[in-house]
Amino acid sequence: MSQRRACITALGTCVPERVLTNADLEGIVDTSDEWIRTRTGIERRHVVEPGTPTSDLIVPAAREALRRRGLGPESLDLIIVATVTPDMIFPATACIVQDKLGASRAWGFDVSAACSGFPYALTMGAQFIQTGAHRRVLVVGADVMTSILDYEDRKTCVLFGDGAGAVLLEPREDETGILDFSHQVDGSGACYLNLPAGGSQRPATHETVDQRLHYVHQQGAHVFKYAVRKFAESAEQLLLRNDFTGTDVDLFVAHQANIRIIEAAQQRMGLPDSKVVKNINEYGNTTAATIPLALATALDEKRVDRGDLVLLTAVGAGFTVGSVLLRWSGIAWD
Ligand code: ACO
Repeated sequence: MSQRRACITALGTCVPERVLTNADLEGIVDTSDEWIRTRTGIERRHVVEPGTPTSDLIVPAAREALRRRGLGPESLDLIIVATVTPDMIFPATACIVQDKLGASRAWGFDVSAACSGFPYALTMGAQFIQTGAHRRVLVVGADVMTSILDYEDRKTCVLFGDGAGAVLLEPREDETGILDFSHQVDGSGACYLNLPAGGSQRPATHETVDQRLHYVHQQGAHVFKYAVRKFAESAEQLLLRNDFTGTDVDLFVAHQANIRIIEAAQQRMGLPDSKVVKNINEYGNTTAATIPLALATALDEKRVDRGDLVLLTAVGAGFTVGSVLLRWSGIAWD
């Protein structure tokens, strides 16, 4: 008997039109195009006009996904938003999106897993489909990172951009869909990458603002080493458990944090360039949005077909680690 699986049946994305190039950043902090390109692979990133909430990127991405599937917002049962830049600390951005979209029947919630947010949210959405509880789940990865970047900190501000991606999950009873997932958390890494103030531990005060504690803080080299190790480890474990090796993978869609992290994992799995999506040059690290944006790049470049084995992998603040293995279902793309 065929198993009921959750399939990605539509995808929509939204990135702001405004572009911040490496040359622009040379005028803001002590950096150079050459340093950023060679250390990270980033050439430019798309950034919102200041004051734009994350939901303003999510809603067009969600509408695009629904249009491609020929469905209205009232068809949605559930909205899951992965983000570390919610419109407000509460209510959840999923609630704001539900209202703006007019998704009258949907409930929803946010997921805080930073750069691993999309694989985590996808896995959660898939459970509701597999159990038969729901038929249409919207899974979103979106961040307005520029709202939490310190443009006096050259080690951090050059890395990130803004963007959103939304996929629709629906049940299918064929060989396609989400096959398996593997997620980990290592909370001992919380000190290496975080936004220190504004939560219950350090509520906002004049001092926290003066000390620039409402921005992303990180020890980049430590994060880099952890990510290199965990990207390959997580991906390989998931493949092994499903009796696959790197050669079986048709498309590796890695979180776009640093081209050197992606290429280290690519090398370890023995994947040729044709099987690895890289668009960090154009968008930078958009945190929860990188994987849906990379899927869009793969579709633009006609690099994924129905039945292909697709591996999604991310590592992020927490530390969080997530991989999802799926057989691509084939979707409308225009
Ligand atoms: N421009 C010019 N010089 C810079 C810049 C910059 N933007 N940033 C740092 N430098 C300097 C440093 O000050 C340092 O100089 P020093 O030796 O005189 O002190 C030198 O460059 C080397 O710094 P490192 O931190 O050792 O450089 P590294 O090669 O590790 O690259 C980077 C730094 C790009 C941040 C890297 O560590 C990295 O990508 N880390 C992962 C961070 C990350 O991706 N965080 C995002 C979220 S987590 C995730 O998505 C996985």
